[in-house]
Amino acid sequence: DWTMRAFREEEIAKIRAQVGRGKVICGLSGGVDSAVAAVLIHEAIGDQLTCVFVDHGMLRLDEAKTVVDLFRHHYNIPLVHVDASKQFLGELEGVTDPETKRKTIGRLFIEVFDAEAKKLGGADFLAQGTLYPDVIESVSFTGGPSVTIKSHHNVGGLPERMNMKLVEPLRELFKDEVRKLGRELGLPEIFVGRHPFPGPGLAIRCPGDITREKLDILRKADAVYIDQIRKHGLYDDIWQAFAVLLPVKTVGVMGDGRTYDYVVGLRAVTSTDGMTADFYQFDMKFLGETATRIINEVKGVNRVVYDVTSKPPGTIEWE
Ligand code: XMP
Repeated sequence: DWTMRAFREEEIAKIRAQVGRGKVICGLSGGVDSAVAAVLIHEAIGDQLTCVFVDHGMLRLDEAKTVVDLFRHHYNIPLVHVDASKQFLGELEGVTDPETKRKTIGRLFIEVFDAEAKKLGGADFLAQGTLYPDVIESVSFTGGPSVTIKSHHNVGGLPERMNMKLVEPLRELFKDEVRKLGRELGLPEIFVGRHPFPGPGLAIRCPGDITREKLDILRKADAVYIDQIRKHGLYDDIWQAFAVLLPVKTVGVMGDGRTYDYVVGLRAVTSTDGMTADFYQFDMKFLGETATRIINEVKGVNRVVYDVTSKPPGTIEWE
């Protein structure tokens, strides 16, 4: 793709001009965007870049392993893997307001990056995989000076007093362009084709307060759901699919016993840029089979519902 080849060359020149001999740390989230940003920046400045992968305790199943394997073993890009789950989950204890969750997570990310930068003898820049829609949506929904819908942690959620300057080479791109760029950079297809995953992770898929128990249930339910989608060959038709753990318990029956367990909500949408989206029209047989599998395989869940809301009026994530 010639446009992406040209973009790649231009951005490499821009990154070199911005960074000079400075040191950069890049936060990896497990998503496509930060991975593409990291590989591009590495190409531009080599070992002036160190990647930091923060496990905040709200990642999907096996996320950390996937990311660490890709960067350390496939790319040989220096990577620091920080387990900050105690710190994040500790500070989020009892927090139920979505914006407070996002802001808390944004602040902690910066604290962790700052601390890691110090350990590396200082860093001048923080690199992020911010995309064009993130920039717009954190400013306003319509582009005008109206309300903030959500503080994306990699845009509006960052504290102002951060010491590092930002490097955001994907700021003008949409998701499909980032994927093209990722392919151009030789990222494996299985990684490039992944559904988007938000920086605040499972925190915003767990409305209400967040506990380790809830996160464990959510991780398992989500893994079963995604496995079903892959097995049915639907993964690439869907922009994003994930499970949400609702903060309610409902009554059910299993064998001759009464159960009182959590409800899992399933979300799947089609979209081209995440700014608008339509709920995905699964067939009922698929949904029924998936519900049965989740309830049988995930302890603590006795009911599954499907979200049939498009965006607008719903957002893709529940918080
Ligand atoms: P919403 O929920 O706003 O999501 O309709 C639109 C797209 O953005 C992703 N998203 C985020 N990505 N940090 C991110 O990196 C965030 O804080 C964040 N919030 C939402 C969401 O997963 C969807 O793809």
